[in-house]
Amino acid sequence: MTQNPKSEQDRVLIFDTTLRDGEQSPGATMSHNEKLEIAALLDEMGVDIIEAGFPIASEGDFEAVSEIAKLSKNAVICGLARASFTDIDRAWEAVKHAGQPRIHTFIGTSPLHRDIPKLSMDEMAERIHETVSHARNLCDNIQWSPMDATRTEHDYLCRVVEIAIKAGAGTINIPDTVGYTAPRESADLIRMLLERVPGADNVIFSTHCHNDLGMATANALAAVEAGARQVECTINGLGERAGNTALEEVVMALRVRNDIMPWQTGIDTTKIMQASRMVATVSGFPVQFNKAIVGKNAFAHESGIHQDGMLKNAETFEIMRPSDIGLTETNLVMGKHSGRAALRSKLSDLGYEMGDNQLKDVFVRFKALADRKKEVYDDDLIALMTDSNTNAANDRLQVKHLKVICGTEGPQTADLVLVIDGVDHQVNATGDGPVDATFAAVKALFPHNARLQLYQVHAVTEGTDAQATVSVRMEEDGKIVTGQSSDTDTVVASAKAYVNALNKLLIRRTRSAPDAIAS
Ligand code: KIV
Ligand code: ZN
Repeated sequence: MTQNPKSEQDRVLIFDTTLRDGEQSPGATMSHNEKLEIAALLDEMGVDIIEAGFPIASEGDFEAVSEIAKLSKNAVICGLARASFTDIDRAWEAVKHAGQPRIHTFIGTSPLHRDIPKLSMDEMAERIHETVSHARNLCDNIQWSPMDATRTEHDYLCRVVEIAIKAGAGTINIPDTVGYTAPRESADLIRMLLERVPGADNVIFSTHCHNDLGMATANALAAVEAGARQVECTINGLGERAGNTALEEVVMALRVRNDIMPWQTGIDTTKIMQASRMVATVSGFPVQFNKAIVGKNAFAHESGIHQDGMLKNAETFEIMRPSDIGLTETNLVMGKHSGRAALRSKLSDLGYEMGDNQLKDVFVRFKALADRKKEVYDDDLIALMTDSNTNAANDRLQVKHLKVICGTEGPQTADLVLVIDGVDHQVNATGDGPVDATFAAVKALFPHNARLQLYQVHAVTEGTDAQATVSVRMEEDGKIVTGQSSDTDTVVASAKAYVNALNKLLIRRTRSAPDAIAS
């Protein structure tokens, strides 16, 4: 096989689509640099194929895919395209810079999806032949997907898969677009295609599952059992609605239960935690505490019996070690006397490597935090890093000063100085409570029509001096963004999170809105 790297029988290729299907999740907007950072980490951790974006979707997507293609070291870099020559040409223009480029083209093949472009079965078959052939003339590594494959008639699915293979696709991806299938059916579908489609032996079958019924990982693994040798997934399972198959779950399941699922991936699992934190930070989608593998509680043993067992022998209650996914168990709590070297070493344990200049900035913020908080825990440092990454010095809007008056006697008022494009602006606003007054102040200085969809506060650690992480989701003309910030003062964190969301909206306004994914 020339189209697929390392396609030995026991090897399962990991295709990460965090930057495409993950970013498509409403609110999970990522900036250009954030995408480059994630791609670099995915490349480093051994992801075989990175789906870097949907180049026709916007100028921003195009530029991100091109840049990732130029910078990639090991991974195949893939761009998505609908079944149209224009889309495919645009995807090729973006990925062609990669050492190993791939074009991924798709069309909805189920009755419901065929109905949207009003194509008959024959017309769609012809479109597939033309577009896959066109893509193959540009690039020698083509992936084709029949969107909503799990709700497509089997005879028709076999027919179109055969056409795509004959036209030159080397990877056939079988999407469960709406998360409808179940493990046995997922396996049967791959087996059926392998048995019935002429030429199926010469291509890699891939599985792409969504988690609407909570079965994405089980469905993907069942497809692998049946012969799929590529799994499409995202870090933290990020993705539209209930998300996609989570990379960390598939990779760790194959590793921990290799006795019954004897397939290997090329992933360096010790980078999983770092990738999880980075994606949670950048997307603004926090990881639920009890999320498998990467949740805060995934390795926490609360009950007495469990703790006793763990102390005697960790294997009593642990099927994998925290260090397997890059979690280090250092008990070193930081405080105001901790120096720069200790901070660097601690951050490195947590997966944050940085140059001297960045460390200098982080150290100043760390000292300010340590002045307000006696003990600085790992989670405090993660929140601090998240905040440094999300609230950057070059943001157009920045909170400079905030003083809030609250208490039993209203009205609550907020006195705010907001820097807008480098110029200070001041206002005093009232509201129903301190957060409402603060948001009203921001709106008075920077009028906008964005609608607040979600306001959420989490305590980072325990105790009344704990930092609060605030998430704010906002919507403007169908574009959704999530802002985040942390501070020991909940109202300050709220103001910064709100402003962070507005900064993201300003970036989004400069991107042209694409048609939603449609065949
Ligand atoms: O879920 C889906 O069908 C997709 C395709 C574009 C592969 O994401
Ligand atoms: Zn999808």
